[in-house]
Amino acid sequence: MLELGVCYYPEQCSRDLWVEDAQRMVELGIKWVRIAEFSWSEVEKTPNVFNWQWLDEVIDILGEAGLDVVMSTPTAAPPKWLVDFNPDILPVDENGVTRKFGARRHYCFSSEKYLEFSKSIALKYAKRYGQNKYVKAWQIDNEYGDHDTILSYSENAERAFRIWLKKRYHTLDALNEAWGTSFWSMNYNQFDEVELPNNLVEEPSPTHLLDFYRFSSDQVCVYNQAQIDILRENAPGRKITHNFMGHHSAFDHYKLAENLDFASWDSYPMGALIHSNLSDEEKNKRLRTGLPDQPAFNHDLYRHVGKGNVWVMEQQPGPVNWAEYNQSPADGMIRLWSWLAYAHGVDVVCYFRWRQVKFAQEQFHAAILLPNGQPDQVFYEIQQIVEERKLLPKDQSRRQAKIGLVYDYQSRWCNEALPQGQDYSSAIITSDWYSALSKLGVDVDVISPDAELDGYEIIFLPDMMLDNDKFVKRVQNADVKLFLGTRVGSKTENMHIPDQLPPGSFGQLIDLKVIRVESLPPYAKQIVVFNEKEYEASGWRESVKTSEKILATYKGDYRNGGAALVGNEKIRYSSVKLEGNLLNDVIKDTLSWANIDYTKLHEDIRVTNRGDLTFTFNFGNEAVALDILNEHEILFGSNEIEPIGVMVRRNIS
Ligand code: GAL
Repeated sequence: MLELGVCYYPEQCSRDLWVEDAQRMVELGIKWVRIAEFSWSEVEKTPNVFNWQWLDEVIDILGEAGLDVVMSTPTAAPPKWLVDFNPDILPVDENGVTRKFGARRHYCFSSEKYLEFSKSIALKYAKRYGQNKYVKAWQIDNEYGDHDTILSYSENAERAFRIWLKKRYHTLDALNEAWGTSFWSMNYNQFDEVELPNNLVEEPSPTHLLDFYRFSSDQVCVYNQAQIDILRENAPGRKITHNFMGHHSAFDHYKLAENLDFASWDSYPMGALIHSNLSDEEKNKRLRTGLPDQPAFNHDLYRHVGKGNVWVMEQQPGPVNWAEYNQSPADGMIRLWSWLAYAHGVDVVCYFRWRQVKFAQEQFHAAILLPNGQPDQVFYEIQQIVEERKLLPKDQSRRQAKIGLVYDYQSRWCNEALPQGQDYSSAIITSDWYSALSKLGVDVDVISPDAELDGYEIIFLPDMMLDNDKFVKRVQNADVKLFLGTRVGSKTENMHIPDQLPPGSFGQLIDLKVIRVESLPPYAKQIVVFNEKEYEASGWRESVKTSEKILATYKGDYRNGGAALVGNEKIRYSSVKLEGNLLNDVIKDTLSWANIDYTKLHEDIRVTNRGDLTFTFNFGNEAVALDILNEHEILFGSNEIEPIGVMVRRNIS
């Protein structure tokens, strides 16, 4: 059953409201309450003087009302006194400017001092509440990476980077070779000569950058693990999570989550729309619904990050405060997003936040209650969800999809380190492919390159730039087809061009070599002929040598007839950046090749399955008549699906 929760900030409202708030939460159907992630300075106002009393009281009030508490470690916002005594814990930006106190996330992951402070405060919280009967789960810190805080160019980071490099390379010769320092006379004679890759005259060696990204990611994992260890020991039996962000890739989420019990993420589709690369016209079209596939992609990704266990820890409740523009979602959207989350495998949706705050940075941010305590729109949508969930069977879990789509953090960093074309973004390519699949009504698992491949019919690799021989070996032994996008396998572990030329180890599966790559401006349209139809493509084009079957060709005055899509029985390779109609049609054709059924959906409709249930969502402003062929029982909604509507059915045959 979909469980509901809320983020609650008792330290930001009068104590007189706590009992009433807890009762109202229970009446509304809320089960989980996440608290205290920014509570450090309220608990320890001055060094070593602890005021636990208010937090003790809040937890008792919530628990006695029947609510389960998600307690947090408060390390995302160290207090002023701590920063003043230890200014070297602060992060430093790319220009070398120290980021100051006055907001949050003002710490550098490489500060050993801050790691010790974090461990010490986490231990205090864990000892105090680890065995509290009302505290059933823990969130560590809050949104690693928010406000661009993974990379820090501090002296602490530089010291730690040198140690990390020593561990990775052992010898200077190995580092010099990996970074290609014979180029531009960049040789190093000692590890201590290496600096961080900022404020350079020209771009650094991409391997220098990639290693800095890898190192920064590892620092976050080490930091997180220290708190996991403390909680495991002092909060036995409690589930541990971290709340990740949508589309964030500055650290390896798979690695960070290895020892977490579940993944959670914070879903803000309106801000994501405003931050997206869409045209103004497209944004306007989805202004009040957001992009249908943006939350879905993240649910599918974090389901994998959480090894099947995923929550939404913060669900957008109305307009937010932090994007360039903060429009309101359509009425009904929060309900739709909540059911969408459940359909994609999310077990708990927590709304951010209980009450709109009257002061400070987020006073424009909507909540379940208005600042005066009256219900806002989402309150009524939650009431509706609570009624609707009674209509669904309880024990439905998401099943493995037939389609896997690989999301590889390291390849993401390679792309950032060496983009080669200003709008070549592996993040956008991946979302586009996911979306092209979703428009065909098929379920997709977003998976890591290390995932088990059994059970998949086809795996899509939109952007796995980093060559991966182990992955190729596993594909060879599995009964699975593969579809590779441009640049796949084009860089070795050290970010060199592979000896056998791209696609590197994937050449064991297909006779193909990429002999030239070019990035192209958006106005330079290339004509691609596929299944006798002509399409326009831009952005990236490769020339390949192959003896395999050519499925699409380039047409025009440059290398006319060159291969744009190549394939054999096991694997297909696209040498052109796929987008728009070409992407949609190639994906359709590829699903047929993999024997996977699909349906071309109305542009506002999305469909996905959880267990025996099929969920249909209408992201549009008009009702849509659904054409469902198999016999089914509707659990709620209708076949004429209303605007911003949800329909749930169980197929009978
Ligand atoms: C999240 C953050 C919350 C709150 C929210 C506002 O990124 O975790 O603390 O700031 O955004 O939308």
